[in-house]
Amino acid sequence: MDMQPIPAREGKHNLKDYHNARKNFDWEQVKRKFSWYETGKVNAAYETIDRHAENPSKKNQVALSYSAPDREEELTFEQLKNQSNQFANVLKKHGIEKGDRVFLFMPRSPEFYASFFGVLKVGAIAGPLFEAFMEQAVRDRLQDSEATMLITTPDLLYRVPQEDLPDLKKIVLVGDKVEASERYIDYFAEMKQASEDFAIEWVDLEDGMILHYTSGSTGKPKGVYHVHNAMIQHYATGEWVLDLQENDIYWCTADPGWVTGTSYGIFAPWLHGVTNVIRGGRFTPESWYGTVDKYNVTVWYTAPTALRKLVSAGEDVANQFDMSSLRHLLSVGEPLNPEVITWGVKALDLRIHDTWWMTETGAMLICNYPTMDIRPGSMGKPIPGVEASIVDNEGNELPPYQMGNLAIKKGWPSMMRAIWKNPGKYDSYFVNGWYVSGDSAYKDEDGYFWFQGRLDDVINTSGERVGPFEVESKLIEHEAVAEAGVIGKPDPERGEIIKAFITLNEGYEATDELLEDIRVFVKTGLSAHAAPREIEIKDTIPKTRSGKIMRRLLKSWELGLPTGDTSTLEE
Ligand code: PRX
Repeated sequence: MDMQPIPAREGKHNLKDYHNARKNFDWEQVKRKFSWYETGKVNAAYETIDRHAENPSKKNQVALSYSAPDREEELTFEQLKNQSNQFANVLKKHGIEKGDRVFLFMPRSPEFYASFFGVLKVGAIAGPLFEAFMEQAVRDRLQDSEATMLITTPDLLYRVPQEDLPDLKKIVLVGDKVEASERYIDYFAEMKQASEDFAIEWVDLEDGMILHYTSGSTGKPKGVYHVHNAMIQHYATGEWVLDLQENDIYWCTADPGWVTGTSYGIFAPWLHGVTNVIRGGRFTPESWYGTVDKYNVTVWYTAPTALRKLVSAGEDVANQFDMSSLRHLLSVGEPLNPEVITWGVKALDLRIHDTWWMTETGAMLICNYPTMDIRPGSMGKPIPGVEASIVDNEGNELPPYQMGNLAIKKGWPSMMRAIWKNPGKYDSYFVNGWYVSGDSAYKDEDGYFWFQGRLDDVINTSGERVGPFEVESKLIEHEAVAEAGVIGKPDPERGEIIKAFITLNEGYEATDELLEDIRVFVKTGLSAHAAPREIEIKDTIPKTRSGKIMRRLLKSWELGLPTGDTSTLEE
């Protein structure tokens, strides 16, 4: 769609800094903002929280403003420092050391954030898991990472298959009435006894900080390994793209189980010392508008799915709330529809700034800054210090308007450093010095990038990344299912929905009850967002002669498109 560019709005933003940043850019300039640049003592938890807690004019500022349907709480920088110190002491007492993997499997809460920083402060690697994960999803991640400790709530414990997790030695339970034992640690009881002083474990910039598991088109979810060095880019993009300023009230809607919820739900805002609104509970247009209104949110980072829901909720809902505190609005995770941008200007009098990046990239790479004209439908331009291009399969750059692989020149600060225990997989991302994203896109003559789709079979449903292999593997565990092929089917609200094609085992009838039973089986085994919304029964699932499911062919059938080259199809 061709739409008029929406010009930058001078006056509201830190335009000067951004323009300066682009001139003779060098990441060294950003490093000077950190205390370790002078002291040599590195730990992202220190830069994010303690540095502000040690500043007399900042320590009593609210760092975390938490609200859930049943709870509201505020923590200052000093309180967050003290609580994370206490938790670091608990971890140390129970033998956690530098480099150990400690996973967090619980809903957003003040305890989540205190624990998270405690893990970083002992030099361990944090593995945040989305609270909606069911047994299989939890098993895969804890097994692969060989996590020795898990922090969870008593309610979620039934989804942790402890008998399959020989490395998991201790479980911290955050809840009332915990029965402590050699294996189970009572969070609140131990926190009460723990000292608020802790000597942070100083690390190297290249030491591990976070493992985020994410899906590809084949195999189990892979552990994307990020190091402390990533803070450099979290800080820089917090300044240039989120445009964070001293008195901002910032809200990122993403859960820390996803990378957006750590890079931009934890690091970027707190590195800049702003008040961070954290909201638990389910999404409704009322609760989201209401959060901006109640907390006077000034900068809001959210996702197209949520914005589309706000659009469809209509003006009557919007008019019940005062959104005038909002200065800056951004989006990530899936294509941002030009119509939604038009809505934003009309309904909120704000431009919506699309940003592009991935779990693997650790931080934003291609963005619409406050300072540039937005071309609706474009993801924007590379941030300072990042070189992006469109390349062919050999890593040769393509001219403007030619579609190809969206690729980034290796070497940005927040780049993943490994795929956990899978060096071959890591190497496969890089071609001719370029990190190849798996997204197809083109570039226009002014350097704006335009997203076209995924080049592999990865599904993006409501901004959440789902690997078809994981869903297929779960489906065939159901006693009625013989074979399964899973695709993303375009959907106006969710971007894509998951559609499964299955064949049934001998003796099973295709009834609505059976299909529902299969759906629930995936939902309760894996997670709700991975459960297929549509299931269609087939006589056979198309496969190559080597046995690979031809998802592309399933998709062409579904969309009524030409089937292309089927020469590898099994007889
Ligand atoms: O296909 C792209 C899509 O989300 C993928 C990355 O997903 P994930 O690792 O879960 O990270 C999401 C949040 C950083 C990308 O390969 N994607 C992300 N941002 C955009 C996008 N697609 C279109 N437009 C975007 N702005």
